[in-house]
Parts: sequence; structure tokens; C-alpha cells
Amino acid sequence: MNLSGKTCLVTGANSGLGFEITKLLATHGAETVMLCINEEVGERAILEIKRAVPGTAIELMICDLSSMDSIQSFINAFLKRKTKLDILFNNAAIMKKKRTVTEDGFEMMFQVNYLAPFILMTSFRDILKKGSSPQILNNGRPSDRLRLDMDDLQFIKKYSMYHSFFKTKLCLLFTSLEYSRRYGNDGISTFMADPGPFKSNLVKEVPLAGWFKNLFSSTVDKAAENILYVLTSEIEKNGKVFKEKKEYPLIEYWKDKNVGEQLWSITESLIKG
Ligand SMILES: NC(=O)c1ccc[n+]([C@@H]2O[C@H](COP(=O)([O-])OP(=O)(O)OC[C@H]3O[C@@H](n4cnc5c(N)ncnc54)[C@H](OP(=O)(O)O)[C@@H]3O)[C@@H](O)[C@H]2O)c1
Repeated sequence: MNLSGKTCLVTGANSGLGFEITKLLATHGAETVMLCINEEVGERAILEIKRAVPGTAIELMICDLSSMDSIQSFINAFLKRKTKLDILFNNAAIMKKKRTVTEDGFEMMFQVNYLAPFILMTSFRDILKKGSSPQILNNGRPSDRLRLDMDDLQFIKKYSMYHSFFKTKLCLLFTSLEYSRRYGNDGISTFMADPGPFKSNLVKEVPLAGWFKNLFSSTVDKAAENILYVLTSEIEKNGKVFKEKKEYPLIEYWKDKNVGEQLWSITESLIKG
């Protein structure tokens, strides 16, 4: 597999799946920008990849996805450096035990896991259009049983770490599908992919729950292989959901365009403020 000439952006690239997929992309020749929240940790991660893949063209860019100012500065800097984008991998996510509010006044998981990818997807549309077979991969898959409460998208009425986390992923799913409908004609393939459960630090605020989850999870390299498989497969991906290496059928609720349109419009108003 030869990915040379591909320009990729991976968010949350210093650890877990983001780190592993960046390493794989580098191994196959892609140029990847690692979006990391912390400079020192990011420098360590990039050094490790450069050691494993000498001569790789990877770059580090710092951004805190829980800050609108930081996201905007990152976007401006990225657009100055790059003229095209082939793969946007919205991977970064956070799981918070207690409801937390960002400096912008949004619930933390809602902003990092959902609003930030929404802004990156919409802000990078033009340079994605300049990519070759451009793809937006949004990470995760909510349970089929989960439903959105449009009056409580930021969990003021009811907060629970897992439930609220997966609701942010459900928002991302609806927005992936809506984006695929709106901009599929641009040639951008937008889809959601669940790499399968793997050992990671995502559930770090509840160590026992994290330990239990990791007990039944596979290793991160298997998850990264699944993601690379979907990214490099030539099948039609726009508007689809994948679980590991296979397409996951859309349930009727996810297909409801009214939900996707309503969420899109609420999201735009929230961002505009
Ligand atoms: N683990 C699983 O079983 C599993 C299964 C399916 C899908 N996923 C998905 O895989 C993705 C990666 O998760 P992971 O399991 O690899 O966990 P992880 O190691 O905690 O990775 C999350 C990444 O996001 C970064 N991040 C968090 N908040 C950020 C912010 N405000 N700004 C910028 N970056 C931020 C983290 O940085 P720090 O290292 O500084 O915290 C980290 O690099 C998530 O989208 C998750 O939903 C995970």
C-alpha cells in the first residue's frame, strides 16, 4: 500500500489510536499532521514515530479542542501550511466523569467530541475538495438504542459519563450523514468508523471501569489496522457507518434526515453564538 502524496490530519495523535494510526500512515508514506493538545507530549510522540519510520514527513500542530480560540488559530495555521487535505481523521475524544463546562460555555464532551470535529469538517471543506479521493473519518459508533434529546444536547437535565459520551458520538454520526448528503457531490467521502474495543486511557477518570473495559478489549494496533483497512478500501463509503472492517447497516433512526438537519442548524447557531 502506497500512501505517498496523501496529506492527512489526525486529531488526538499523541496517544492511543491516534498515535497508532499516525505511525501506520507514516509507514505507508503519508504526510501527516498530528494535532495534539500538549506540545511536550506531542514532541515525544512525533520523535517516537520518526525513530520508528525514519524520514517520515510528519508534523506536530498544537490545538486544544476544548477552546474555540485554539481551534480557530489551528485552522488558520493549518490553512497557511497546507493547500490540500486527503484524509481528515476526527479521532480525539474525551470522557468526563462529571459534567464540565469549557471556557466557551459548552459541556466539555459535547465540544471536544462533537463541536470541534464539526468545525474542522466545515472549515476544511475547500482544501478537502482539493484532495485526491478525500475522506473524512469520524471515529466511533453509538449504540442503536440511543436517541438524541434536542432540548438537552449538552446534558443539563441528565448527565452520565457513558450515556452522554455516546450521545456526543450520536451527534457526530448524524452530522457525518448530513455532511455526506450536503457535500457528497464535492467528491468528499464522509463516514463514521468504529475500530472495535481496544485497550486505552479513554476511561481514565474512573480507573476501575477503565481497567474492566480494557480487560475485554484487544490491542490498539488491531484497531489501527481496522481503521487503515477502511480508509484504504475502495468501496463506496460516503454516508456509511463501519464496524471494524465491515459496513454496519444504518438503523431507521439514523436515516431520519429531519434529525440531521435540525442538529446541523442548532450546531451552527451554537457556534455562531
Ligand atoms: N478505546 C476504545 O475501546 C474505543 C473504541 C471505539 C472507538 N474509540 C474512539 O477512539 C478515539 C481515540 O480514543 P482512545 O481510546 O485512543 O483514547 P485516548 O488515548 O485517550 O485518545 C484520545 C486523544 O484525544 C486527545 N484529546 C483529548 N482532549 C483533547 C483536547 N481538548 N484537544 C485536543 N486533543 C484532545 C487526547 O490527548 P491526551 O492524551 O492529552 O488526553 C488523546 O490524544 C476516540 O474517539 C474514541 O471514542 C475508542
